[in-house]
Amino acid sequence: MQDSPVLFVSGMLLAGAVGYAFIIRDDLKFWAAGDRAALDEKKAGKGLSAIEQTKPEGVEHDEMKSKAFAAVQEPKKDQIAGKDVEEKKTSQTSNAGENQPGMTSEGKNPTVEDYQKLYNRIAESFDKNPDFDDGSYAPTCLRLAWHSSGTYDVKDKKGGSNGATMRFPEEAQYPANAGLNNARDFLNPFKKEFPWISYADLWTLGGVCAIQEMGGPVVPWRPGRVDLPEDETHANNLPDGTEDADRVRSLADRLGFNAQEMTALIGAHAMGRCHRQNSGYDGPWTHSPTSFTNAYYTELLEEKWKPRDWDGPFQYQDPGKELMMLPADYALNQDTDLREIVKRYADDDDAWREDFSKAFKKLVELGVPEDNFNKAAKAVGVDGPISFKSLADQENESRAD
Ligand code: HEM
Repeated sequence: MQDSPVLFVSGMLLAGAVGYAFIIRDDLKFWAAGDRAALDEKKAGKGLSAIEQTKPEGVEHDEMKSKAFAAVQEPKKDQIAGKDVEEKKTSQTSNAGENQPGMTSEGKNPTVEDYQKLYNRIAESFDKNPDFDDGSYAPTCLRLAWHSSGTYDVKDKKGGSNGATMRFPEEAQYPANAGLNNARDFLNPFKKEFPWISYADLWTLGGVCAIQEMGGPVVPWRPGRVDLPEDETHANNLPDGTEDADRVRSLADRLGFNAQEMTALIGAHAMGRCHRQNSGYDGPWTHSPTSFTNAYYTELLEEKWKPRDWDGPFQYQDPGKELMMLPADYALNQDTDLREIVKRYADDDDAWREDFSKAFKKLVELGVPEDNFNKAAKAVGVDGPISFKSLADQENESRAD
């Protein structure tokens, strides 16, 4: 050693550098993920919730970023004291305690007013790009809420809206999820603006906001969903449009819905459209694709649907060649019992609105441990779900004042 002082000094410097890198390795992970906010929160000692609920925007399009985010998730697994990762995998309730909504920038739990503020920001932005589809992001956000919840399986109680695993490439790339990057990308800036919300809560809140802003009923909504790592991704079990009545019924069974609830939910096809580049199908179901109306049921019953003559997948078309129905939609019309429900909703818009609201609330709560909802409610200071006010209702109220 004495013979080579240069070597000795270099060795010391190298050891020091390795030691320092080890100490700041978590910070480096956050830096690699481009996530200053999570790093700042972590430094401020705000713990896991802020870390695991924060992820760089547009991660699903960028494998590099996704890997960096996976790295961010690692410390969380290490910190599940006394539990191995396998145990956590089988019990989503075990992590409920550490997954309260994150803190606001003032270091407080978000209040109902904070959630309403977030609702308003989303609502004001739906129509920001007149060139997107029919001029609104609301239908695609409604579909994101449905697809993030619709993986649920009542038999093993896996899947559902807890987790937001569509953040990761595997689930994002399920054929049924094609095009939902539009909804995720639309909502990502709100995650930046309101970093205390989990993606899983944001996506379902976005769906509720879409319904209400398109003129639909109030859907009482509860916070408490958490973002889970990629290995919680559920196998693809989402419907593709080719379903007949039996398969629509078994979809309802898997989700834990009855035929009436399922038929009420599919009425959401009054809004939005099919896109060739996503599903292969093409066209809207109704003439008012950005309004919450029971036109889906009236069109289904009253139009003279014919198979479309084209090079795309089998679908139905109206004589005016403006509207479409999927085989799965048309199945509701062919099945005697389901057709009775369609008739009821075509005749009674109010009945549909009421049933839809209940079924959609149930849908976006699938797979979420009740404990998560209870703890989040306590943190927010409410003893029930939050009922958001639509922008229109707020305007009417302020006019009345
Ligand atoms: C049997 C059940 C269902 C089937 C087979 C089905 C199938 C489809 C298909 C193939 C599309 C077209 C996607 C595209 O090309 O972009 C679509 C769009 C849509 N679905 Fe469904 N769906 C079902 C149930 C539901 C439910 C339960 C909801 C909501 C509660 C829903 C809401 C929507 C909405 C809003 C769109 C339009 C999205 C947009 O405009 O981007 N669907 N659905």
